[in-house]
Amino acid sequence: MAIQLGDVAPNFTADTTEGSIEFHKWKEGSWAVLFSHPKDFTPVCTTELGYTAKLRDEFAARNVKVVGLSCDSVEDHRAWSEDIRDTQGIYPNFPMIGDPDAEVANLYGMIHPNASDTMTVRSVFVIGPDNLLKLSITYPASTGRNFDEVLRVVDSLQLTAKHKVATPVNWKQGEDVIIVPAVSNEEAAERFPDGWDEQKPYLRVVPQPS
Ligand code: BEZ
Repeated sequence: MAIQLGDVAPNFTADTTEGSIEFHKWKEGSWAVLFSHPKDFTPVCTTELGYTAKLRDEFAARNVKVVGLSCDSVEDHRAWSEDIRDTQGIYPNFPMIGDPDAEVANLYGMIHPNASDTMTVRSVFVIGPDNLLKLSITYPASTGRNFDEVLRVVDSLQLTAKHKVATPVNWKQGEDVIIVPAVSNEEAAERFPDGWDEQKPYLRVVPQPS
């Protein structure tokens, strides 16, 4: 069965454009974004990897390590990196896993045979410092992902981990958040001494904690 939210993200050792990594060791103490793209030297993937490289400082500010993957070789990733630089203005600045035998892809359920037998779909896995899976999303090959949305989700996940708040529909950085239902009013009073807007007993709104 495919990995599900709350599961331990499987460990693996793989060759990357930045040398061999053992995943859990490589990400130790950090959040991680592990994402697959279908194929090197393809148009949508070229734009995605360039944009992700431009977000390097944003990911670093959130203590997130990024790693890409496809069922191409590390040599192909390196050659394609030149095209990414030529067209997107930046080299990929994160490791890209070469997975020609689809070992990691199969471990994470990144190949959906009814979409393609050989190419990974556009998977994104956000994994916490505890190595548990916090988010997974899947896009088809024809739709480029929104990596600003990945950052937004990371912000939400980190607020939940640190402050026990959830984020409402279409939440953006700096907007009000919601005290998670598992927090009692007693605990909420300790965590949020300035109080909250109780719109319903289960809908307690507070300014975003810093
Ligand atoms: C693309 O990146 O444009 C792409 C990759 C695989 C299949 C279709 C499109």
